[in-house]
Amino acid sequence: MPEVPRCKTGVQGLDQILNGGIPEEHTIVVSGTSGAGKTTLTTQFLYNGAKNHDDKGIYFTLEEPARNIVETSKNFDMDFENDEGVAGNVKFHEELNLMREGSGGDVFEPDRFIDAFKRQIEQYEPDRVVLDSITKFAMVFDSSPLRREKVSEIAQFLREQECTACLLAEIPYTGGERQVSKYQIVEFVADGVLLLGNERTESSRTRTLEVFKMRRTDHSSDIHPLKITNNGIVTYPNQTAF
Ligand SMILES: Nc1ncnc2c1ncn2[C@@H]1O[C@H](COP(=O)(O)OP(=O)(O)O)[C@@H](O)[C@H]1O
Ligand SMILES: [Mg+2]
Repeated sequence: MPEVPRCKTGVQGLDQILNGGIPEEHTIVVSGTSGAGKTTLTTQFLYNGAKNHDDKGIYFTLEEPARNIVETSKNFDMDFENDEGVAGNVKFHEELNLMREGSGGDVFEPDRFIDAFKRQIEQYEPDRVVLDSITKFAMVFDSSPLRREKVSEIAQFLREQECTACLLAEIPYTGGERQVSKYQIVEFVADGVLLLGNERTESSRTRTLEVFKMRRTDHSSDIHPLKITNNGIVTYPNQTAF
């Protein structure tokens, strides 16, 4: 395959698993059950981008207050407010009141979120974008054609920008064959899918990372072990989980 420019995640082991990093300007989905490590992995992606590559980043959160994410990051040795090269280069945009149209009251309708999302990106011109989560965004639509249209609008917009983006997808616990996303839309619009697992085996849980799909690059097709340490996520390119 021809060499494509890479956006290095800086997550230990992951760039090797991806054969150098995420192809630049891809929009990928990072999917997994709650607690699988999606937020941790993508805060590292923004932090390392700013620190090591002078990349501007923006994190849109629809789920969890931005303050929580910034505070939790400190446990992983990432201080978004004070660390050199990072402070001022990674923005958090919080919108926790996203609700379905016509819900009334103090809610934020999805089209207003789409406008805000586009405006922020056009004005700030980030190199790296995270949307946490595309599932929360998709949930506000009760018809699947509309859901598909709006998720595609986000993906299409990102494709036109000069940025590498991660859309986080929350998947339900099943215990059986793993689904990649709740609505099975996002994987169709994305250039790639990273699947994070946290599976019960015998008497413990095993955290895993798998590259489910990635356009324009070779990548590992193994299910790799993943650990969450005091320095954040570590993956193991030369090991398989099971
Ligand atoms: N210092 C730590 N060491 C190991 N695991 C941790 C530490 N801090 C948090 N965790 C684990 O990391 C996970 C947090 O993952 P998170 O990135 O928030 O998941 P998601 O965004 O997919 O819901 C939790 O399951 C928590 O148990
Ligand atoms: Mg999260």
